Amino acid sequence: MIEKQRINEAEKAVKVLQEEVYQHEWRLHYHVAPVANWMNDPNGFCYFKGEYHLFYQHHPFAPKWDSMYWGHVKSKDLVNWEHLPPALAPGEAYDKDGCFSGSAIEKDDKLYLMYTGNVWTGENYDEELKQVQALAVSEDGISFEKLSENPVITEAPKGDIHPFHFRDPKVWKHDNLYYVVLGSKTLQNTGQVLMYRSKDLIHWEFVNILAKGEGNFGYMWECPDLFTLNNKEVLVMSPQGVKPEGNLYHNLHQAGYVIGDVDYEKGILSHGDFQLLDYGFDYYAPQTMIDPEGRRIAIAWMDMWESEMPTQAHGYTGAMTLPRELELRGDKIYCHPVKEIEKLRQAEVIHEQITFSGETSLEGIAGDSIELDLSLRVHHSSACGIRLRVDEDAGEETVITYYGDKGILELDRNESGKGPGGVRKTHLQLQDHMLHLRIFIDKSSVEVFVNHGEQVLTARIYPGKKSTNIRLFSDEEIEIVQLKKWDLKRS
Ligand code: FRU
Repeated sequence: MIEKQRINEAEKAVKVLQEEVYQHEWRLHYHVAPVANWMNDPNGFCYFKGEYHLFYQHHPFAPKWDSMYWGHVKSKDLVNWEHLPPALAPGEAYDKDGCFSGSAIEKDDKLYLMYTGNVWTGENYDEELKQVQALAVSEDGISFEKLSENPVITEAPKGDIHPFHFRDPKVWKHDNLYYVVLGSKTLQNTGQVLMYRSKDLIHWEFVNILAKGEGNFGYMWECPDLFTLNNKEVLVMSPQGVKPEGNLYHNLHQAGYVIGDVDYEKGILSHGDFQLLDYGFDYYAPQTMIDPEGRRIAIAWMDMWESEMPTQAHGYTGAMTLPRELELRGDKIYCHPVKEIEKLRQAEVIHEQITFSGETSLEGIAGDSIELDLSLRVHHSSACGIRLRVDEDAGEETVITYYGDKGILELDRNESGKGPGGVRKTHLQLQDHMLHLRIFIDKSSVEVFVNHGEQVLTARIYPGKKSTNIRLFSDEEIEIVQLKKWDLKRS
């Protein structure tokens, strides 16, 4: 009853801002975002009774991180999302300061959410906290009841395991048993992942430290996710505090994966090197699910902790990336926007076989809620690319440059408008001189899929309304083999 009241209050708090937020110029048109106020990590991403459900870390009372609820949206097609009342509100003794991140699983026709109950035990949020794992259950996938057995995991195991930083359960079923991975750190502040198993979701047995970081691998691993892709085991996690190395790891925190094999009996993952899932600025805490078509789909928070978020002044903050289908080729994951996104396309414009040098803009190629599909043949070119969200008068632009001599692709948001600037670079090998960019621009975001999913770069940008022009540039003659553009409908 009290829980219901909290949920109603939360729903009301965002509803009063709904209209104003919906109209705002930076409000995304086809990405999941809260009706108003705050969103971070995706949680409980699943398919239940014919619909996709996505929950998220949500503070309904202000556009900033504070006491965490689970916001909730659902969809039949991963494109059109319906907002629902929050699924979880903090309030029990074991979760009174927040229902932190977690995941979902179906059992006996019911949907279970497994999450971290967070309680602050003092003022120092880094050290004075108590985290436990808890469950809530629902028959309809909309209203949830916390279990009377909660918390189902009451404390971190003994050993070289930090007693307090113990969170973000990702649950799955394997050979008739349930398993959970949890984010953790050692007593010496290095990241690791713990594995548990259970027969019934309620009684859990600690199996082992599944994987741990060595070298420059962060002080804490958040939001682990373990799954099989193409007969290999993949552990996705979000290490906090990896230090920059060359062009890598310039964000405050990272999100990536290792590939290997799991010994389920011993609870050990033998794995290869850490690789990023996204090379841009704003990608964190990805979570995956497998859908009825057998696709492994990832969605992530399209922001970064401690990064400036200019929409906070307008009553809303935080968004999700596009849902991305993961594909394993060799020992590398390729990311593709799910095909359903094409449903949003309208007003196709195509240009083909244009040779140019210097700078060019093409008829009908502009916009701030669009998809671009660009194939460039970059013979000998040392610097070429595309400027997005350009307003010459305001001096605004977001620039993607390929440096052929160095084999580097760069995303530059220093002149993007308000908000954080910076440059991100990735190494790229072209085949037959072809550079392919599939770019999704949405009001205050850009996602660049490079060479058919080999790399992705994601950024939040906050340009003015007039910044809608697009220009191609090259310091040597190159060919635009094809450029397609679609306006994308508001979903
Ligand atoms: C990751 C994270 C999780 C935690 C949640 C709290 O971004 O820090 O580890 O459960 O956010 O909102």
